Amino acid sequence: MCENCVKSDLSLLEPVFREFEGDEHALVSILQKAQEVYGYLPIDAVYRIAENQKVSPAKVLGVATFYSQFRLQPVGKNLILLCKGTACHVNGADTIAKAIKEELGIGDGETTADGVFSLKEVACLGCCSLSPVMMVNETAYGSLTPAKAKAILRGIRDEGK
Ligand code: FES
Repeated sequence: MCENCVKSDLSLLEPVFREFEGDEHALVSILQKAQEVYGYLPIDAVYRIAENQKVSPAKVLGVATFYSQFRLQPVGKNLILLCKGTACHVNGADTIAKAIKEELGIGDGETTADGVFSLKEVACLGCCSLSPVMMVNETAYGSLTPAKAKAILRGIRDEGK
């Protein structure tokens, strides 16, 4: 094992394996449960799941990367969903993505080094009249400008959320 390898508590998977014992088609369900346990799918858990299901790690990784619900990286404390739907795109979603990059140094699918923010670009968030829109956790912020987006993120960081 290398020094930087993830070392998850793999015993947490045992109840999941017991729940789906003997079910060869349960890979997606097992991955869902594993993600509930760890918050994401650590690579050592992926290997353990492959071993348990008697399939290759490549197959498990293939499934995990095929479905957008699965995350192979830990998610930050605050999840930013940046809408890239048509209305938001037309109204400057790209400039908001650029502002987030400038403020936090992260792009789509990335997490800040301090684990405070993760960014995920998504399709329509369902409030197009407020475009461009981003959500941070449960709160939607609309009619964004680059400066407004930066100020919102700074505010969240300053509040220590
Ligand atoms: S396109 Fe962004 S909220 Fe609908």
